[in-house]
Amino acid sequence: MVKILVTGGLGYIGSHTVVALQEAGFKVVIVDNLSNSSISVLEGIVAITNKTPEFENFDLRDKLKTKHFLKKHTDICGVIHFAASKAVGESVENPLLYYENNINTLIYLLQELDKKETSNFIFSSSCTVYGQADAMPITEAAPIKPAESPYGNTKQIGEAIIKDTCRANQNFNAIALRYFNPIGAHKSAKIGELPIGVPQNLVPYITQTALGIREQLSVYGNNYPTPDGTCIRDYIHVVDVANAHVVALERLLNKKHQDNFEIFNLGTGKGSSVLEVIQAFERVSIQKLNYKIVNRREGDVISAYADTKKANEILGWKAKSTIDDAMDSAWKWQKTL
Ligand code: UD1
Repeated sequence: MVKILVTGGLGYIGSHTVVALQEAGFKVVIVDNLSNSSISVLEGIVAITNKTPEFENFDLRDKLKTKHFLKKHTDICGVIHFAASKAVGESVENPLLYYENNINTLIYLLQELDKKETSNFIFSSSCTVYGQADAMPITEAAPIKPAESPYGNTKQIGEAIIKDTCRANQNFNAIALRYFNPIGAHKSAKIGELPIGVPQNLVPYITQTALGIREQLSVYGNNYPTPDGTCIRDYIHVVDVANAHVVALERLLNKKHQDNFEIFNLGTGKGSSVLEVIQAFERVSIQKLNYKIVNRREGDVISAYADTKKANEILGWKAKSTIDDAMDSAWKWQKTL
C-alpha cells in the first residue's frame, strides 16, 4: 500500500482528504498538533472508512522531531501539507506566529523531503493570492496581488518557496491547489468544520445562527457593485476539494505532470452572493435565517470565482456538488454537533 503523510489531517479539509485517500486505497499517516482540531475527528474518520490511519501528535515547528519523523517513515511516497494557521484577523494581530507556523514548518518539511530520491508534495494554497482579481472568472495565470494579510502572504511565500525548491531539484514534484471557499461536511455527518469560538467564515456562522448558538448573522455590506450588492465567492463542497487532492497526488505518483511545479484552482466556477448562500440555506433547512445588513468587513474582496478549465482539463477533476448539497451537509453536520 502506498503511504501518504497528511499534515493537519485532523483539520477541516485535511480530515475529508484522509477519508478520500483511505477510500482510494492509500495508507495514511497523520501529523497534527491539535492546535485547531480535535482528537475526536480521528474517530469520525475511522467510523466512515473502517480504517485507522496512523496518527502522531507533534508540532512541525519542532525541526528535530520533523526530521526524526521522516527518518522513521522512509516509506512515505507523498505528502499533503495542510497544517497551517488560517485566521485572517489573527494573522494581522500576530504576524510572527503566522510566519513561524506556516513558513517555518514548510521549510523544515521541504528540507527533509528534498534529500529523498524523489518527492511528491501537495500544498494548500488559496484564492486569496489573487486579491481582487481584475477579471472574472479567475484563471491560474491571473497576477498575484500584494497580500492583504500575513495569512495571505504566507500562502504566496509558501508557493514561491516550493516553486524555487522544484526548480533546484527536478526530482521534487509539487502541486499547489488554490482553494476558493470550501464549505459543507461529509454526508455521514461524522466529520465537518469545527470552528473554535465564534466562527469567522460565513457558512458555520449561518448554521450556528440557525441553531440559536449565535443570535443573528451580520451580512458585511450590501452596497458592493454586484447584482444584489453583497460579495460574491465560489463556494465548493469540501468533499470535492478533498477528492481533488487524491487526483493531484495520483498525477504526481503516476508521473502524469507536465511540469514539476503546477498550480490548479479548486472551485466550481460559479459565483454566489452572500444573500444567495443564505437563500440556499433557507431552501435546504426549510427555515428563515435571522440576519441583518451591517457595514463592510475590512479586507473583503468584491468578487472571486474560479476559472476551472485548467483543473477540469489538465488535472482531470471537476466539482460535482451544488451549493444546495453543500449547505444541506453543513446543516446536517451542525445539528449532530
Ligand atoms: C476568508 C479569507 C481567506 C481565507 C478563507 C479561509 C478574508 C478576507 N478572507 O475567505 O483569505 O482563505 O477565509 O477560511 O478573510 N460574511 C458575512 N458575514 C459573516 C461572515 C462572512 O457577510 O459573518 C461574508 C464575507 O463578507 C464574504 C463571504 O461572506 O463576502 C465569505 O466570507 P468567509 O467565509 O469569511 O470567506 P472569505 O472572506 O471569502
